[in-house]
Amino acid sequence: MCGIIGYAGHRPAVPLIVEGLRRLEYRGYDSAGVATVQNKEIELVRAAGKLAALDEKLARKNVTNSTFGVGHTRWATHGVPVERNAHPHLDHEKNIAMIHNGIIENYQEIKTELLAKGYEFRSDTDSEVLCNLIAEGRKHNPNMLESISWALNQVEGAYAIAVVSIDEPGTVYAARVASPMVMGVGTGENFVASDIPAFLPYTREVVFIEDGELVKITSSSWEVFNVETLEPVEKEIKTINWDVQAAQKGGYKHFMIKEIFEQPKVISDCLAGRVDQAKNEIVLPEVEGMEPPERLHIIACGTSYHAGLWGKYLIEQWAKIPVEVEIASEFRYRDPLLAKGGVALAISQSGETADTLAGIKLAKEKGLSIIGLCNVVGSSVARESDYVMYTQAGPEISVASTKAMCSQLTALMLLALYWGKRKGVIDATTYSRAAQDMRSIPSILETALPAMRSRAQELSREYSEANSFFFLGRGLYFPLALEGALKLKEISYIHAEGYASGEMKHGPIALIDPKFPTFAMALNDELFPKVKSNLVEVQARGGEIIALTNPGVDLDVEHRWSLPEVWGPLNTFIALPALQLFAYETADYLGKDVDQPRNLAKSVTVE
Ligand code: AGP
Repeated sequence: MCGIIGYAGHRPAVPLIVEGLRRLEYRGYDSAGVATVQNKEIELVRAAGKLAALDEKLARKNVTNSTFGVGHTRWATHGVPVERNAHPHLDHEKNIAMIHNGIIENYQEIKTELLAKGYEFRSDTDSEVLCNLIAEGRKHNPNMLESISWALNQVEGAYAIAVVSIDEPGTVYAARVASPMVMGVGTGENFVASDIPAFLPYTREVVFIEDGELVKITSSSWEVFNVETLEPVEKEIKTINWDVQAAQKGGYKHFMIKEIFEQPKVISDCLAGRVDQAKNEIVLPEVEGMEPPERLHIIACGTSYHAGLWGKYLIEQWAKIPVEVEIASEFRYRDPLLAKGGVALAISQSGETADTLAGIKLAKEKGLSIIGLCNVVGSSVARESDYVMYTQAGPEISVASTKAMCSQLTALMLLALYWGKRKGVIDATTYSRAAQDMRSIPSILETALPAMRSRAQELSREYSEANSFFFLGRGLYFPLALEGALKLKEISYIHAEGYASGEMKHGPIALIDPKFPTFAMALNDELFPKVKSNLVEVQARGGEIIALTNPGVDLDVEHRWSLPEVWGPLNTFIALPALQLFAYETADYLGKDVDQPRNLAKSVTVE
């Protein structure tokens, strides 16, 4: 997610904007830039890489003391992280500078229309298209306010933008749909930003901007309009009592809990542009240039490996493609037998995991083509892959991976549907039901999360003294059992084992006693009766059970944790956050360092 800031006030804008971007660095980025206006000219300075690179450029270029401008740290979604793709973007006549956080889904068709009108483009971004569309609007509208409204009423997708122009010195415009935007109200100065930390040192008076609102600020005024009708909108000023660190977590105690609650948006963002809603069809331009694989080798580590195990079930069932899922650190040394012309799918949130990169190298040496499924644009996995699919989860700060896995599962489901349709082997009902129902998961999950968190808090207090846990699941829930165990042990340091529930009788059940609780996935699917009989075996030996289940399911255990039931495999997207919340609330209750657990790194870039 990008960081954006706009300023209109009495101070030199550039240093204030750059410091504001520094307080937004936690959001993750790969390039940065700032634009101000002086003497009817736009001053634009941008740099690939971190803010230090921007500082160096600013030191060499004596920018003026202009007192208004915009700044941006870019988390790349369209276009690799190089200077020409960095924000702010200018229109082709350099009268307007704009910054953007979000994804314009229909930017290609708008770009085609603008090209036909003689517009020239300097970057590969969707953002520059929007900037030029505003310039086009300026030709038919009397001012920037109406030009921006005119342009935004033509775009589809998510945006939070801030705009300055040489026509209106001292004025900054901003607007949002589905991307964050707040306004800071100061004394003789006003701010817009993607997040409160950007201007917190200057003012605690905040106005939260809602979707479909268009903001106009100057040093001495602020106004909010409906972006479509330009009707003025009454807004309330709220006083923020957070410190900067708390503000970076959006008021949450840890990044992990913030990222768990971001999962509804993550699913929406991962689906954005990949489901043709009119036709209810999956569109994956990233892989349309290749044939569906004869056989697929998934290579990954940790949570990403668990995502791969889950994806195997759907890709085999829906696309009839045999899938091998490999722990990368094993794959790279076992001299695997790989059919030339095969395909490897490397899953990696960071795109920098050494074992996974080594697995890619080995697969390429053996003649396989590589699909990279990762979250960081331009990462090593992305650069080493022949085809790249980004999970669009935004930066994941907490070491324990949560929203990244959610986005990986979403992407794997899309691949299974897409290949199944391409091969003509998936039944139409499954295809249309999955494509249709997936779009409702974000709102169902959004509604369910608060109650899920309360239930997790209750259960974590009851079992925080356990020394060991079993996590059991069958079918699609076996990978989730592995993931639930990993989450609990890596942040609470309580030992936990994920197991296929049918495996308990082959030895592990010897461990069961009242002090060795079991966390079971007992949701309402065709394997439930088998899971139920496994749980009876556990109870017969005095084991206590927490069971994730659905309303009305016939199950008698110590702790039922009932989740809203959705269609088939989509229940995964409701169960996964429950596992994450149980681990989080247990670790938080035990006072652990949730975001930075001992001995762990966010990206394991060494063997
Ligand atoms: C997950 O909670 C862990 N932090 C870890 O297992 C992680 O998933 C693994 O290191 C793989 O990382 P990657 O997805 O960035 O490759």
